[in-house]
Amino acid sequence: MIHPYLGYPVVEIVEGGVRLIVPAESLKSSVPPKTPVFYNPMMARSRDIGVLFIKTYRDLPVEGLNVCDALAGSGVRGFRYLIESSRVGHLVSNDINREAVKLISINARINGVSDKVTIENRDANSLLADHASRGERFHIVDIDPFGSPAGYIHNAVMAVRSKGILAATATDTAPTSGVYPRTCLRRYGAISLKTEFYHEVGLRILVGYIARVGLTYDLGLENLLAYREMHYFRCYMKVEPGVHRAEKTLDDIGFILYCRMCIYRRGVSLIDVTEYNDPSRILCPLCGSILSFIGPLWIGRLAEPSLCMSMIEEVEHTSITDRGYAKKLLSSLVCEASMPPTYYTVDQIASKLKVKTPSIEKVKDIIDGEGYRFSRTHFDPKGFKTDMDSSHLIEVLRRRLQ
Ligand SMILES: C[S@@+](CC[C@H](N)C(=O)[O-])C[C@H]1O[C@@H](n2cnc3c(N)ncnc32)[C@H](O)[C@@H]1O
Repeated sequence: MIHPYLGYPVVEIVEGGVRLIVPAESLKSSVPPKTPVFYNPMMARSRDIGVLFIKTYRDLPVEGLNVCDALAGSGVRGFRYLIESSRVGHLVSNDINREAVKLISINARINGVSDKVTIENRDANSLLADHASRGERFHIVDIDPFGSPAGYIHNAVMAVRSKGILAATATDTAPTSGVYPRTCLRRYGAISLKTEFYHEVGLRILVGYIARVGLTYDLGLENLLAYREMHYFRCYMKVEPGVHRAEKTLDDIGFILYCRMCIYRRGVSLIDVTEYNDPSRILCPLCGSILSFIGPLWIGRLAEPSLCMSMIEEVEHTSITDRGYAKKLLSSLVCEASMPPTYYTVDQIASKLKVKTPSIEKVKDIIDGEGYRFSRTHFDPKGFKTDMDSSHLIEVLRRRLQ
């Protein structure tokens, strides 16, 4: 049906607890059109996780939260936060596209929340900059752009209150995952490299970049939840002012040193890298090759286990669209959270050690037998993590898989 006011075909849908009008074309192809207004039904699961996060995060007041959906499209994300979580008191829903703003206004009315929503038709950076001063800041700022969020992060971190949340999506996964290293250097100031754990490199470069931007303003950023799904990375970071907090964040930023010859790797913090004046430290301890530096990136935790557990408990009390996905993802993040950065894949192990591809179960048995921890990873169905030192793991697998 062509909408009489909007002038293009629309359909009415329900996503989670929200009723919406969206362009009819959005539901017809796997890549929804950017015009007249962008709506991607495939991202409903990402919005589900956002709803669970807001319902569960404990370091903000239980109600009256002030949320900014800075690149809102149809408005769906912010409306879901407002309607499905009783914690949001006021929503600023902004988009630079005039057609989007018309749709947001209709969708606010359909859901009966117009009195709780301020609709803006501005460039996100200019809007966020106007909210940088004390008293103007938001409890939660959500940055959900086409492509890279990098260009919005400076204004976004400044627009978040103490203990508030900066959430960001990145769909430019190829640059940070090593496919376009020059683009990654340009946008994120980080060296990316194609490795078997490239999804994790991309996510850690994104999180590390946001943390480094915070550091320039003496803000500490603590990563609470970061993951990859389909074509995007997503993270939720707590912002806290103060040199002490910023110093803690600094310890979570570093490099991964990686041997392309034998897949040895180790993480090293930025502070420790400054003491790398002995050339032997950049040689692979296993094969003597020169190690490649990947980063700077986030070397701290990718998820806060107790938060993920609370989110899992909340799943049954919400109207989210895909309970099974949310539980599976969050359970995996709990298991992965205490493991060091990077994962291995059974294919790469087989190729480098010149053995038949082992099953994941076989690798698990070997690691268990050596007395170390093993976990699968949400990044890759053929991937696994362990707290066993990389050189020990490679040596053990070489021996046991022959
Ligand atoms: C990926 S879409 C947002 C999707 C939406 N958050 C959702 O969950 O459906 C990105 C949106 O950013 C808007 N946009 C692009 N550049 C912008 C800018 N500089 N300031 C504000 N909005 C912008 C686009 O019009 C588009 O609606």
